[in-house]
Amino acid sequence: YKITPMNLILPVVTLYPNWSEIYGGETITVRCEIHGGDTEWDYEWEANSIRKLPNLNEYRIISASSSNSGNYRCKGRMKSSQHETTEWSDSVTLTVFHNKPRPVLTVSPSWLSPGASVTLNCEVEHPSAGWSFYWYKAVPDLSEKSYSYELLPGGSGTAQDSYIIHGQTHTAGYVCRAGRGDPEYHTDHSQPKFVWSAGQFVSLSASLTVSPDRVQHFTSDSVSLTCEGNFTEWRVRKFSDGRLYSSNCWRMTGSTCNIHTSKSDTGVYWCESGSGEFSSAVNITVQSIPVHPVTEGASVSLSCSLRTQKILSNVFFYHNDKLIQNDTRGELKISAVSKSDEGFYKCQYSGRESAQSWMSVKGEQDQNVMDFNGFHA
Ligand SMILES: *[C@@H]1O[C@H](CO)[C@@H](O)[C@H](O)[C@H]1NC(C)=O
Ligand SMILES: *[C@@H]1O[C@H](CO)[C@@H](O)[C@H](O)[C@H]1NC(C)=O
Ligand SMILES: *[C@@H]1O[C@H](CO)[C@@H](O)[C@H](O)[C@H]1NC(C)=O
Repeated sequence: YKITPMNLILPVVTLYPNWSEIYGGETITVRCEIHGGDTEWDYEWEANSIRKLPNLNEYRIISASSSNSGNYRCKGRMKSSQHETTEWSDSVTLTVFHNKPRPVLTVSPSWLSPGASVTLNCEVEHPSAGWSFYWYKAVPDLSEKSYSYELLPGGSGTAQDSYIIHGQTHTAGYVCRAGRGDPEYHTDHSQPKFVWSAGQFVSLSASLTVSPDRVQHFTSDSVSLTCEGNFTEWRVRKFSDGRLYSSNCWRMTGSTCNIHTSKSDTGVYWCESGSGEFSSAVNITVQSIPVHPVTEGASVSLSCSLRTQKILSNVFFYHNDKLIQNDTRGELKISAVSKSDEGFYKCQYSGRESAQSWMSVKGEQDQNVMDFNGFHA
């Protein structure tokens, strides 16, 4: 039978729940545990080297703020013998972030194909234990210039950070948020993310048509996007470089949006109706026309590059979608350009295809070099 000397007892500070990183507004309890038999203790606390907390074995921080960040340690003082104290515990660091977190939602795939399911993933910054997830469908709300959110079936407080949707057939938007703790603390809603339907596999109540009807457009073209369906009110949306944009129509007449294209108009486009419908979606690619047209009689060399690296062999070259060179050479040389060489050129390498480039032919002159760089690696 042995008595542990007081000054050898080491209290332990624990956080309950056990999260060392929390957000402003969350509730957490800092607890001092002393394993020293039946002894009754008074508690001394030190937070950021300042002794100011009450004489209790636990300290509940309700609606934390950044002033609660810091190092916490405690020691015990015997109630019956006030000069007998334990050692100081090790410090426990609590960090309270000022900003409300906004989770990032990813949706895959981006484009629907028949029978494929859609997987949503919700990622919280500073991930730590204890989040549950809420999953919503985004419903276009034209009066609010945004979306309203409808909880998906079984989408309330899931333990998993992913959610799978089966049988999705039309363009849809999704949003997530996370929550944890008691009382429950909620993050902001994520930005909406989308899965697009080109509309070729199902009949949709709304669709988007592009005129002129081609994949590729050139800067300063005039392109019109028409929202079709039995709805009176529309807006056109664009998603580009991971961001959602409102319509960039310079004029919206009825359900038709007119754009004078610039390179920044490249993106995925769709319509949203006043009654909350999404239309089919289209890719629009805008590229600049070469500033200097090629002169008749000139020699032209067309090459193909992957990002910044030039490809030196086994490139297939196409003129107006017709294969014109499929050997081991990496370049297409035209020694004397004629008017019939005008048109769209693209290249293909290792199963991947560049965007089309337009070559125009004028008057007469010398040496020209043209480069493709439309590859997506
Ligand atoms: C608390 O969390 C930390 C780090 O996540 C872990 O090392 C520790 O064992 C946890 N403590 C308890 C009591 O669960
Ligand atoms: C749109 O472009 C993406 C990426 O280039 C592609 O995966 C997708 O199939 C295209 N969709 C349509 C309908 O062309
Ligand atoms: C269009 O919608 C209106 C009102 O919802 C409905 O009365 C009408 O029958 C619809 N027309 C067509 C062609 O679907």
